[in-house]
Amino acid sequence: MNYDLLIRNATLVDGTGAPPRTGGVAISGDRIELAGELNGARGRIEIDANGKVLAPGFIDVHTHDDRLLLSDPAMLPKLLQGVTTVVTGNCGISLAPSPPSAPPPLDLLDDSGTWYRFDTFDAYAAALADARPATNCVALVGHSTLRVRAMDRLDRAASAAEIAAMRAELDAALGAGATGMSAGPYYAPAAAASTEELIEVARPLAAHRGIFTIHMRNEHDGVLVSIDETLAIGRALGVPVVISHHKVAGQKSHGRSVETLAKIAAAMRAQPVALDCYPYCASSTVLIAEGVRYASRVIVTWSRSHPECSGLDLKVAAERLGLPVEQAIAALQPAGAVYFVMDEADVQRILAFGATMIGSDGLPHDPHPHPRLWGTFPRVLGHYARDLALFSLETAVHKMTGLSAARFGLADRGVIRPGAIADLVIFDAATVHDSANFEHPTRAPLGIDTVIVAGQLAVAGGKATGAREGRLITGRVRVDDPAWAG
Ligand code: ZN
Ligand code: CU
Repeated sequence: MNYDLLIRNATLVDGTGAPPRTGGVAISGDRIELAGELNGARGRIEIDANGKVLAPGFIDVHTHDDRLLLSDPAMLPKLLQGVTTVVTGNCGISLAPSPPSAPPPLDLLDDSGTWYRFDTFDAYAAALADARPATNCVALVGHSTLRVRAMDRLDRAASAAEIAAMRAELDAALGAGATGMSAGPYYAPAAAASTEELIEVARPLAAHRGIFTIHMRNEHDGVLVSIDETLAIGRALGVPVVISHHKVAGQKSHGRSVETLAKIAAAMRAQPVALDCYPYCASSTVLIAEGVRYASRVIVTWSRSHPECSGLDLKVAAERLGLPVEQAIAALQPAGAVYFVMDEADVQRILAFGATMIGSDGLPHDPHPHPRLWGTFPRVLGHYARDLALFSLETAVHKMTGLSAARFGLADRGVIRPGAIADLVIFDAATVHDSANFEHPTRAPLGIDTVIVAGQLAVAGGKATGAREGRLITGRVRVDDPAWAG
C-alpha cells in the first residue's frame, strides 16, 4: 500500500507517557494509518527522521491567541515550537461573542477594540474558517467578555436577568463549537462576580460536556481559598475544572506549592481537577499596581501612552519619566508588564506534578512579550527535561500532548496511534532549546525541524511551509474517565 506521507527511523514518543521506541508512521489524508513497525510501506513523501523524536503535535492549553489566529494565521510563535493546537479564550477574555461597541474587557487581545466584531460564536468560527490558520483552535468563551456584553457596569455582581442572558450566550456558543468557559475573577471586569454568579452562568457546561477554566481570584496570599472556590464551582456544576497557570506568587507565598499541590491531589480523588503551568519564574499581564506590589522586578512589555518604554524595567521607565513608580504606573496606562513573582522551586514542583499540563499563556500582541510566547515548549523539553532531568522526555511530551487532549476531551489528538489525526512534530532531543529570553523575547527555538498539521507539512527544515490546515476543534470532556483520578 502507498501512503501520502511516511516518516521512518524515528524515536517514537507517542504522547501516552510510554517509554520511547524505534519506529515510524504512515499517513493517509489527515490520519495516521500505521504507527511503529512500517513493514516495507512506501509513501508519496518519505521523511527519514534519523533517530530524532517523533511526537504528537503539542497542545498549548492556555493561550490568548483568539486574534492571532485571524490577524496572523501563520501562527509562527506557536508553530515553530511544534504546537499544532491552541486553546483560546482564557482568563475570562475571549474575542467571541464580542461586546457591542463597549471597550474591551481587558487589553490582552486587542487594545483598539476593532477585533471585537463577532456578535456570535458562529461568526467567530466562520472567520476562523476563512482565515485558515496554521494551527488548530479549541475555543473557550470568557466570562468577563460575557459580562461586558450583558452588564451596564462591572463593579457589582450580576442580577438574575443578567445571569440568564450570559447563560443563554454561553449555551449558544457551546452549541456552535466552543469547548468550555473561562473565568478571570482576578481581573477588574469580573472581580465583583460572586462564586454563585460564576456557577450560574456556567450551568450549560454540564449538558454540553464543557470544561471550566479559571485564572483564580487570588494567586498569592489567598491562593488556598481560591483553590477551594474553584473546586466548589466544579462540584456545583459537575464538570472538570482547570486551574490556569498555577503559581504561588509573592515572596510571602514562596514554598506554598507544597500545600496547594497537596490540596489539588486530595481533591482529584473526589472530582475532576486539572491544572497547567508555564516554565518561568515571571508572570505577565496588564500593568497594575496590585501586580507590582508582589514583584521583585517588573519589565514594561508595552505602553500605549509611552511606547518608548516597552522593554524597560519599570524603575528605569519611571526615572525616564521623572516620576515615582506609583505615578509612572498611572502615566504608562494602558500598559502591560512582566512580573518576577515566583520562586524557581515552586515552578519546578508544579511542573513536575503528575497532573500538570503545559500552557504558554503567551501574549502575542505585546511589542516586547514575555518569552513564554516563543519558548515554553522547547524550554520544558530542553531546559527542564533534558538539562535539569526534572522528568523524563516521555513525561514532558505527555504533559503537552496526551494528557492535555484527554483533559480537554479532544478525540483522536495528542497520541500517535492508527486512526489518530496526523498532528505531529519531529525534534532533536539532544539540541532542542528555547532561544527567547527576557531581553530577546521573540527568538525562534532551535532543534524543531518538522511540524505536521492534519497530515500536511507545516514546518520543514525548521521553516514554515505556508500550509494552513488548522481547524476549530470541539472538545467534549469525559468526567467518568478513571484517568481523572490521577
Ligand atoms: Zn490568566
Ligand atoms: Cu492567561
